[in-house]
Formats: sequence, C-alpha cells, structure tokens
Amino acid sequence: MNVINISVTNSLVNNQRLSRIQSISGLLFSLFAVVHLSNTALAALGPDLYDGFQGSVRGVYQWPLFELALLASLVVHIASGVMRMRGRRGSRAKPPLRLRLHRYAAYYLAIFVFGHIAATRLPAVLADAPPFFGGVSFSLHFMPWFFYPYYALLGIAGLYHLVYGVPVALGVLGIRAPQVIRRGPGFWIPVGAGATVIVLALLGFGGALYEIDDPFDNDFARAYEAAAAHFTSEAP
Ligand code: HEM
Repeated sequence: MNVINISVTNSLVNNQRLSRIQSISGLLFSLFAVVHLSNTALAALGPDLYDGFQGSVRGVYQWPLFELALLASLVVHIASGVMRMRGRRGSRAKPPLRLRLHRYAAYYLAIFVFGHIAATRLPAVLADAPPFFGGVSFSLHFMPWFFYPYYALLGIAGLYHLVYGVPVALGVLGIRAPQVIRRGPGFWIPVGAGATVIVLALLGFGGALYEIDDPFDNDFARAYEAAAAHFTSEAP
C-alpha cells in the first residue's frame, strides 16, 4: 500500500510555489537592476553621461505605479527568500562556492537596500533634491571611510546576485540559459569585468579619474547638510 506523507508533499509544493514566486519577483526587479547598474557604470566615463542617462530613465522607474511595483517585487523577493531559507534550516549540505557567494550577496543587499532607497529617494521627495552624479559624489566625500566600501560592496553584490540569479530564475520557469553563461569563464568574466567597472565608477564619482564639480555645492548635499544640522543641533 502506498502511504503519502501529506506534510512532506505540502512542503514540497510550497517550496516549488515559493521558488516560482521568488524567481518571478527577482526577474521583475532585475529589469530595474540592469538599468541601474548600467547607469552606475557610466560614471566611469563622466558626470554628463551619468546624469543624462539617469534623467532619461528616471521618468520610467519613478513613474508612481512602476516605482510601487518595483518596491513590491523587492519585498516579495526578499520575503520569499527568507521563507525558503527557514525551510532549509537543519540541512547540513555545504552548497558550492558560487551559490554561497550568491547567498552572502543576498544578505548584504537585504540589510542595506532599504536604507539605500531611503537615502537616495527621501531628499528628492521631501526637498526636491534628487542625487544625480553630485549626490553620490557628495556621499563619497562626506564620509569616504563608510561610502567607498559600502557602495563598492553594494554594486558588486548587486551585480553578482544578478548574474548568478537570472539564469537560475529562468531555469525555475523552464527557460534554460546556455551552459556557457551558467558556469566557467562565461560566468566569471562578466562578473570580474563588471566589478572592475563599478570600482572605476566609484573612482569617477570620487574625482580620481577626471575633474569634478565641488561635491558640496549641489541641492542634494545642501539638503543632507541641512537635515544633519537639524538633527544634531541642540534643543533650546
Ligand atoms: C555603486 C552602486 C550604486 C550606486 C552608486 C547607486 C546609486 C543610486 C542613486 C544615485 C539612486 C537615485 C536614482 C534616481 O534618483 O534616479 C539610487 C536609487 C536606487 N537604487 Fe541604487 N545605487 C547602487 C547600487 C544599487 C543596487 C546594487 C541596488 C539593488 C540591489 C540598488 C537599488 C536601488 C533602488 C531600488 C533605488 C530607488 C529607485 C527608485 O525608486 O527611484 N542600487 N541608487
């Protein structure tokens, strides 16, 4: 007689459903991430290119419904990831290096991404002072010891998570990416090249590659300094 263990069957079905939800939400967010990381890369070539690109694509990803959908896809992606992680608790299997790096990147992104969104969007929404090139440049000059490692890790973790995650997510949905992208140099070359470009972009924002305008002389910097002065001034 065949005995079906209902709890095992349910958790398997839930897991497959969760895995599809995580894949679809990840693919939706990756549409923005590709545009955003390409925008960041342009800082290696100069502020005009960076600002010009950002000014033209911003109209799309900051269209209110799209921005809401973007945030929703991010929340669903992280929540389903946490649920799947809880489901794996107790497993002693050691995953391969690339998968472990994918997970470490996810932890870093999950910890910092909402702070990043608030830090870049609140000055725009509350004080009409969107960051542009000068805003990132200001952050790097304001607190270099924090913002260089923070942005380098944010960009590289985002890139790694994207390059590893997109073929996996497509695979879950039944679309098999070519072998060359999934393993070997076809994986590591784009990751290595992309990481180098992100470091060059940060050097561009920091003024090490070409002349930049005074990073403290823009609306974003003034909004931050005003907020900092407000919160640090002693109450009368
Ligand atoms: C070195 C790396 C990065 C830099 C310099 C950077 C910089 C910025 C800037 C300047 C904005 C404001 C954009 C605008 O106003 O149009 C922004 C927004 C944002 N960033 Fe990043 N970012 C980096 C990496 C990432 C990564 C890896 C992610 C996601 C995993 C991410 C997610 C977002 C999101 C969701 C927004 C808000 C988009 C919106 O609703 O308008 N960023 N970032």
